[in-house]
Amino acid sequence: MIKLLLSSFVILFAVYEQVGTLPLPSYLKICHVGPEFNDCIIKTTNDAIPTVIKGDRKYRYPPFNPLVIEKIEVTENSKKSIAMNVTLSDAKFSGLDKAKMIKSNFDVNKKHMEFVFIIPKLVIDCHYKLNGQFLIVPIFGDGPGHIVLDNPEITVVLDYNLVNRKGEEHISIIKETTQLKYKAEGLHVDLKNLFNGDEALSKNMLASLNENWKELLNALGPGIADGIKQVIVGILDELTTLIPYKEIVQQ
Ligand SMILES: *[C@@H]1O[C@H](CO)[C@@H](O)[C@H](O)[C@H]1NC(C)=O
Repeated sequence: MIKLLLSSFVILFAVYEQVGTLPLPSYLKICHVGPEFNDCIIKTTNDAIPTVIKGDRKYRYPPFNPLVIEKIEVTENSKKSIAMNVTLSDAKFSGLDKAKMIKSNFDVNKKHMEFVFIIPKLVIDCHYKLNGQFLIVPIFGDGPGHIVLDNPEITVVLDYNLVNRKGEEHISIIKETTQLKYKAEGLHVDLKNLFNGDEALSKNMLASLNENWKELLNALGPGIADGIKQVIVGILDELTTLIPYKEIVQQ
């Protein structure tokens, strides 16, 4: 089971009064539905990433470098060879400024969007707490954690409805069907203070975790992906509430 506590900005920003609608921010270009639509989305997104990453109070989203998630909790009760309870606190994700959109499939008729991003190096600095077993070997620890993902490819899949708010059509994202899929070319972890600081045990376990990184990614990945997904949906929710559909998509 995965439990999350998002950084306070989402909560803070959400209590603001609805201030009516806003036009598309100047750093995003409107795309016209037609043969060039998805290429236009890729270009406008990639051109905007360096600006978007700095955050925009007017559009109620925070800076993303780093992106901070207060708590990611993964609990596991099974007796599998890899079963761990993991908590990552104050998790700072850096490297998102180098993200590139490589694929877009925005279907206005099906009200469906799929975007694929590549991040050359995603680094997570956090405080970790874990216990359980990794490949049958007992593991526990509590301390600073440093996690690096090589070239993660992240696919965001979204469905939406069009809803009328004060006479204007707005995109409303369907949260239940939102998916975030990922793969990576490598995973490296450095966890300080494993086994209460026992050097020999820590060294062996870190070697095993890094050697068997694919198994480790299966254990940690869903929690991390869920964290990123909730942040993305939270931000898109704000933007699509503020910006009417006709400002985003030109038929
Ligand atoms: C995770 O924590 C729960 C509740 O404390 C416990 O029942 C379970 O055995 C733990 N799982 C592992 C793999 O240690």
